[in-house]
Amino acid sequence: MREDPAISLQSLSKSFDGKEVLRNLSLEVQRGEAVVIVGGSGTGKSVTLKHIIGLLQPDVGHVVVEGQDLCCMGSVALNRFRRRFGMSFQEGALFDSMSVFENIAFPLRRQRELNEEQIRARVEECLDQVHLVGVAEKRPSELSGGMRRRVGFARAIAVRPAILLFDEPTTGLDPVISDVIAELILEMDTTLNTTTVTITHDMKVAFKIADRIAMLHRGHIIEEGTPEEFQASTNPIVQQFIEGRARGPLTE
Ligand SMILES: Nc1ncnc2c1ncn2[C@@H]1O[C@H](COP(=O)(O)OP(=O)(O)OP(=O)(O)O)[C@@H](O)[C@H]1O
Ligand SMILES: [Mg+2]
Repeated sequence: MREDPAISLQSLSKSFDGKEVLRNLSLEVQRGEAVVIVGGSGTGKSVTLKHIIGLLQPDVGHVVVEGQDLCCMGSVALNRFRRRFGMSFQEGALFDSMSVFENIAFPLRRQRELNEEQIRARVEECLDQVHLVGVAEKRPSELSGGMRRRVGFARAIAVRPAILLFDEPTTGLDPVISDVIAELILEMDTTLNTTTVTITHDMKVAFKIADRIAMLHRGHIIEEGTPEEFQASTNPIVQQFIEGRARGPLTE
């Protein structure tokens, strides 16, 4: 018998001020799978990710995560539920009033499973994993954009969540650190069997980490498959995106 998917997006539609962003979008992510969502700017990738954690509710359709329909959850239950995710947002969303250390310790303290010594060790381990040294006592505002992004990443993985969501984890990072982050996502996926959904524009990162790549275009998934299948797609929109060409159906 096939296991329930970790995440099931069922025929989602979502409009903002009369403008339809998601149109009948369906996507399933199996447990332990690494799915990468690609697509042009403004096509609704971040909106899709926000539906998975219940920050946005669909106008039509259902979001079912680990067997639970998020539409039926109250805000208290939803808040508790959300703690099982690790998320690294496009915008960073660190607390500027707290040190880097306290930012990463925050979800661990809230979880109340580790003592102070274990928290300290875990934070150090996470900082080490994102190749950040000597910044634990600094404020996020004292760091570069790329460093803040990595702090956000360290915070996302700190609780070793069953599901990790990454919105543009490597944007603004140099190619070496981008690859470090890609390796980390891969490692989460393979050694901890985490379910990951990553949004990226970086096809190198996508091909490296994905078990499956899905392309979002005009509000729904127009292509999905293994990296090999995706690469071999005959859809001209997909081909233009992969090759990063200015001319083609995407820009007509
Ligand atoms: N809370 C909101 N209220 C109104 N409109 C919104 C809201 N969130 C997103 N949108 C609109 O939905 C569309 C898709 O936005 P989204 O952030 O999902 O794009 P994206 O695919 O993540 O783009 P990018 O690659 O630039 O990050 C945009 O037109 C955006 O203006
Ligand atoms: Mg986005």
